[in-house]
Amino acid sequence: MTISIEPLISEAEIRARVVALATEIAPRLQPGTVVVTLLKGAFIFASDLLRELARHDLDIHLDFMALSSYGNDTRSSGRLLINMDCQKLVENRDVLLLDDILDSGNTLAFAVEHMRFKGAEQILTCVLLDKPSRRQTPFQADYVGFTIPDLFVVGYGTDYAERFRELPFIGHLKE
Ligand code: IMP
Ligand code: MG
Repeated sequence: MTISIEPLISEAEIRARVVALATEIAPRLQPGTVVVTLLKGAFIFASDLLRELARHDLDIHLDFMALSSYGNDTRSSGRLLINMDCQKLVENRDVLLLDDILDSGNTLAFAVEHMRFKGAEQILTCVLLDKPSRRQTPFQADYVGFTIPDLFVVGYGTDYAERFRELPFIGHLKE
């Protein structure tokens, strides 16, 4: 079985969208907002988006959280495990959650609930990719980079069995 990757979203397209997203999001970030990046998938998206946000002269704090779902990887079980919680106090602060892909919705729904439990004020969510046709838990992100069909994608942080995260573009897997 050979794996081939069909390009879906180019580096240039990602770049342009990330710049536009930062311009949209920046005015809504109150001083002291904690930006929580979900690992590992969102790490490249976050590093590009955050450097664009830096052009908007904001007072933001960065943190990270790692979640995983129980059971196998292809079908989300809806039960989430916190592998690493964020360290910053988010009580009475605004939070911006960043993730790579909004798929079943289970991960972000859980992350929002978790931030609410920790006492966060306003919680905003931003994802690079949204696959609305795959939703199990109703969820709408405040900011979406690209809405895509039900394809398994890799690159720009997203993986297939921990491979291809380093690709600078988004591709979809063909076997
Ligand atoms: P969900 O919304 O809880 O189903 O999970 C979203 C997470 O599943 C994302 O953060 C990704 O880590 C992973 N995921 C969903 N779809 C894909 C894909 O097409 N390629 C790689 N990872 C994916
Ligand atoms: Mg992920």
